[in-house]
Amino acid sequence: MMRIAIPKGRLQNKALATFADAGYEVPAERDLQSRKLVFDRGDIEWIFVKDCDVPVYVEHGAADAGIAGLDQILEHDCTAYQPVEFDFGRCKMMLIAAPGAPPLTKVATKYPRIARQYLEQRAIRAEIVPLGGSVELAAVLNLTSHVIDLVETGETVRVHKLEIQDVVAEISPRLIIGRGIYRTETKRVRELISRIEEALERGRLVRTAGETPALHN
Ligand code: PRP
Repeated sequence: MMRIAIPKGRLQNKALATFADAGYEVPAERDLQSRKLVFDRGDIEWIFVKDCDVPVYVEHGAADAGIAGLDQILEHDCTAYQPVEFDFGRCKMMLIAAPGAPPLTKVATKYPRIARQYLEQRAIRAEIVPLGGSVELAAVLNLTSHVIDLVETGETVRVHKLEIQDVVAEISPRLIIGRGIYRTETKRVRELISRIEEALERGRLVRTAGETPALHN
């Protein structure tokens, strides 16, 4: 039995679809409507946790593998292997401010560790204000001079008339594998990785075929 952590929220459906494409039996949508967080299907135990907690479960060996964004992997200083990077859910972590903002003195973020590293690398002395969400509001209301947050479509930045000042990191979801299981069950882990890689490759081929323009005689 292998335990795999699925992130609830934005990545959940793509994460499940990836494992289903790789031939794994995943919980059906109607099963997920219950409040249950653990499902046994085939020889996998699927657990559903908040996206920020996937690296924590895998790091501590309470889950063998999972799908987590690089943002959460970095924020938790997670040392799990990251053998596969996914095409879906890509975004950028940005330094954002209101137009005409003062120099960077205070930065609000859900990612205090990443923010601290960013500031230290640039020898900037600024206070970090940790928030739980809706981080852009801190720049709008001048709680802080800047915010560090994810930008996916850019819509949140646009509707609040904020400006992007710098790219902090390129973010992508990854398959993460705990170091413990990699050592003890190398064969099973290698099979998991290659099944997912093959499913991704098949998906890319299908997409490329779909994009081929029609040939005219
Ligand atoms: C995320 C992120 C930004 C927004 C970016 O927040 O923190 O606020 O999405 O997406 P966009 O560029 O497509 O607008 P999320 O909706 O996950 O909620 P939160 O603000 O409560 O963290």
